[in-house]
Amino acid sequence: MHNQRFFDQTLSLIEQGQITVALPMLAGKLFSAQIDAIAWPETRQTLLRHPLHSVLMEDPYLAHCYAKPRGYAGDAALIDILYDRTLPDGVSKRSADLFNVTTAFPAAEAVRLRREYAETLVTTAWQAGKRICVLACGHFREGDRLIGNDLSNIVAVDQDGLSLDVVRRNHGETINVVEANVFNYLRGAASRGERFDLIYTLGLTDYLDERAMRLLHKLMKACLAPGGTLLLANFLPYHIGTGWMDAVMDWQLIYRDEEELASYAREIGLSYKTWTDPTACIAWCEMKDG
Ligand SMILES: C[S@@+](CC[C@H](N)C(=O)[O-])C[C@H]1O[C@@H](n2cnc3c(N)ncnc32)[C@H](O)[C@@H]1O
Repeated sequence: MHNQRFFDQTLSLIEQGQITVALPMLAGKLFSAQIDAIAWPETRQTLLRHPLHSVLMEDPYLAHCYAKPRGYAGDAALIDILYDRTLPDGVSKRSADLFNVTTAFPAAEAVRLRREYAETLVTTAWQAGKRICVLACGHFREGDRLIGNDLSNIVAVDQDGLSLDVVRRNHGETINVVEANVFNYLRGAASRGERFDLIYTLGLTDYLDERAMRLLHKLMKACLAPGGTLLLANFLPYHIGTGWMDAVMDWQLIYRDEEELASYAREIGLSYKTWTDPTACIAWCEMKDG
């Protein structure tokens, strides 16, 4: 009953144009509510059935995530919405107001910072002539700065052919694009004796269970050249947007903290460094051979 009232009042605030008040308030409420694992499914269902949820879907970012047009959560087109924050033509003022708030939330900012970090990393490695492997590359947006260059020392792997079309459109034929599941790709690369100085993946491990995570680490290590670097980033447990992402966006991730990431690095015997990003949403783990 109190959930219903809370959602009624949130909707009323949105209808009065108080979007910058209503949305953070709702995100806070959902963050606290999901801590109660028993009551959470009911809270989530109440929101989904409430007219507030339909109004939130006027936001093109939330609507894309909820609809999953490519059949899975977190596709590269969704991530582009966060990178570019460009509204489609002809949207209403309310849609635009919702969009401007939700794409400024800390988790959205964390995704932009993640790309920024990777941009410096991949640019520096490319300039040094390193052999680079990008796993689950999506649209490889961290490579935007390299457009127009010869990227024959980069292999970009993703299972989604539509995303790879975008990579080819941006970078032409010099980049090595592989449409494959990362596990199959790494197995093949290891057996062919391919080795990379840098292997990284962003936005993949949040979908991998423990067994898959272990396998990924083992296979990445098998493809790592002596002295090479592995890097990944994973959303943190109980970051401030967890309840919001689950209930509003139907976007479920597997959350991990720095210590969990470190344990995978220890298991494959690499030295490592972990850190948390400034938004406190994402943990990073950089592993080195030697
Ligand atoms: C959240 S997006 C991240 C894209 C990009 N790395 C970025 O940070 O902008 C996740 C990407 O992982 C890809 N993906 C998910 N599981 C995969 C798998 N097992 N093998 C290959 N690609 C995968 C999806 O197709 C999607 O492009």
